[in-house]
Amino acid sequence: MRIIKNIHKLIGIVPAGVQRKVGPQMDEVATVKDAYLTIEDGLIKDFGKSADCPEAGPSDEVIDAAGGMVMPMFCDSHTHVCYSGSREREFIDKINGLSYEEIAARGGGILNSADLLHKTSEEDLYLQTMTRVEEMIGKGTGAIEIKSGYGLTTEDELKMLRVIKRVKDTSPAIIKATFLGAHAVGRAYSGRQEEYVDLVREVMIPAVASEELADYVDVFCDEGFFTPEQTGRILEAGERFGLVPKIHANELACSGGVQVGVTHGALSVDHLERTTVAEIEALKGTKTMPTMLPGSSFFLGMPYGKAKDFIKAGLGVALASDYNPGSSPSGDMRFVMALGCVKMRLTPEQAFNACTLNSAYAMGVSGEAGSITKGKRANLLITKPLSSLAMIPYSYQTPFIERIII
Ligand code: NIG
Ligand code: FE
Repeated sequence: MRIIKNIHKLIGIVPAGVQRKVGPQMDEVATVKDAYLTIEDGLIKDFGKSADCPEAGPSDEVIDAAGGMVMPMFCDSHTHVCYSGSREREFIDKINGLSYEEIAARGGGILNSADLLHKTSEEDLYLQTMTRVEEMIGKGTGAIEIKSGYGLTTEDELKMLRVIKRVKDTSPAIIKATFLGAHAVGRAYSGRQEEYVDLVREVMIPAVASEELADYVDVFCDEGFFTPEQTGRILEAGERFGLVPKIHANELACSGGVQVGVTHGALSVDHLERTTVAEIEALKGTKTMPTMLPGSSFFLGMPYGKAKDFIKAGLGVALASDYNPGSSPSGDMRFVMALGCVKMRLTPEQAFNACTLNSAYAMGVSGEAGSITKGKRANLLITKPLSSLAMIPYSYQTPFIERIII
């Protein structure tokens, strides 16, 4: 057994069985002051007031939190960290005035990453992906969803998903894999989008499923990418093979992506930079988690998701990094939390819940991660001494992690 003693505040306690927080629950971050926590077989065994801390036996390891806080590691339910190289040339193009859509329309963007990935060996792609995953763990993230979508041919999509599987088998983080063959139309199918949709449905999805490489199916349902009608057909094909939908929607336009995701019982609908009351209404009473990606709003200079309106309507909100080479080259969830507070006006408590339990829910792991709950994985952060939870997003550049337990 491992015993963490001398915890100034244990934060993010959630009763067993609570899978997500919605509406006013997002304001609550349950805390025990002056606490201990025990770990057995990598799981949270028990916790409580220091006065009740069990005596350490000869085989127990005692960890002194030295007055720091203990919290669950962040969960990042939306990333594209399996990619090759970088796209800083487009970064310069953007600085000089081109939009994300204009770069994509010229055949750049996602297609550039696909060209590079095609030339990259599986081994090299694994090493690049693992480097990013390790960087994210070092910044406090303990669960990561990773999408394919820079292959755009059957062979290269499978290559990506095999790499993600290897990351899952070799990284200490909890990893979930999402098939995103419909991220853009592959170059060979330029001008033949319908045929590409058929390829995704009839060839890629069955191939991915037969190797059991993905948990989820995703589509970039947005202006200039895939229509809601095409998206519906792709999600339906994924569902037939046991893949649960997650979706990219409303990044570039109010395209109907949220509604098609909800119709197909999506676990999450992500981006949502542009939403109206119609999207909020569509999400009410569903199991779908609205997920916002303020790192891409920041990097592309787009509007931020209206998280407050969603919460006011009684919905939950998750935040994720969207770590990818085009719209968010960062997987720093603490920065995401800070953007949630500064740009979306979330309170530190709301942003904390959005980056932990709700993001765990949005990647289907809230039964094992995202909170301090007996029986969950002990993926924990011991912080440096901090006066309050608000210090995490407030002093957003000052190192705050003392130790990571994963
Ligand atoms: O979530 N919007 C679509 N996909 C990614 C960006 C991918 C890229 O530009 O490489 C996103 O922002
Ligand atoms: Fe994305």
